[in-house]
Amino acid sequence: MIPKETADYLRHAFKKGKVVCLTGAGISVESGIPAFRGKGGLWERYDPQVYANSQGLTATLKMRPQDLGKFIIDFYSVILKARPNPAHLALSEMEKKGILSGIITQNIDNLHGQAGNRNVVELHGNAFRIRCMSCKKLMTLEKDRLQEMIESLKGIRHSRIKLLKALSRYFPRCNCGSRYRIDVVLFGEMLPQKELALAYKHLDNCETLLIIGSSLVVYPVATLPLYAKEKGAKLIEINNEKSALSDLCDYRIRGKVSEVLPEILKTVDV
Ligand code: APR
Ligand code: ZN
Repeated sequence: MIPKETADYLRHAFKKGKVVCLTGAGISVESGIPAFRGKGGLWERYDPQVYANSQGLTATLKMRPQDLGKFIIDFYSVILKARPNPAHLALSEMEKKGILSGIITQNIDNLHGQAGNRNVVELHGNAFRIRCMSCKKLMTLEKDRLQEMIESLKGIRHSRIKLLKALSRYFPRCNCGSRYRIDVVLFGEMLPQKELALAYKHLDNCETLLIIGSSLVVYPVATLPLYAKEKGAKLIEINNEKSALSDLCDYRIRGKVSEVLPEILKTVDV
């Protein structure tokens, strides 16, 4: 599955170190979390302009609370059931062996953290965290609390008042007076500057960028491979299809991440 020339390059790259990963939703599909685009993608069933955009979410809460309740139940039921797959575990092994400098991820499913990776830059936030809308204070949303929230939402008879009341139990008011919301980046919102700076720091020091399971159509993350390339890094795409930047890559490995990543680990096991 890994072409010989690519395997030779990978062995050399991992021996030299300075390998960084950029991951997208494709790495979590085999953990049961649908990707956003492509067949069966989340955005086929839910309009991102409504469900991944703050104005859209506010309007849906007002006009069609039952739809928002259904989206939250669908979204969190899948995320809560998901466990790291062999691709996540291979990256965790690489970090433990000291041959992976870090992961920059667009994913909010916390599966890299669950797999044991510590050097993870979450550019789009984390669905298990809430953030105060004013003072930005962070709080973790424990899994059992989230499970309880889903159960309570299921029981609500599509009433906006009851939905608001239920959500305010799980997204409480901060002691600064403002309200907490899920700590993820919605369309049109700025990426967290501290994380973005950390991502660039990884790329300034990177000789090989593995781009794993991303269509690379969402900005500004889609500019990061270009940035790395301009700094002299080699780009290796691991994807079961072409992405928007396949032609920019130096090597392309076509296949499922849960098979390719463990094979890369075996190939480079120095
Ligand atoms: N193995 C390898 N690649 C896969 C697999 C798999 N099992 N399953 C899916 N893929 C690939 C698809 O071919 C596609 O290129 O993963 C990619 C998923 O693309 P998207 O769904 O667009 O996900 P991503 O690139 O992470 O989206 C970026 O868009 O909606 C926003 O904020 C959201 O972070 C997300 C961002
Ligand atoms: Zn606050």
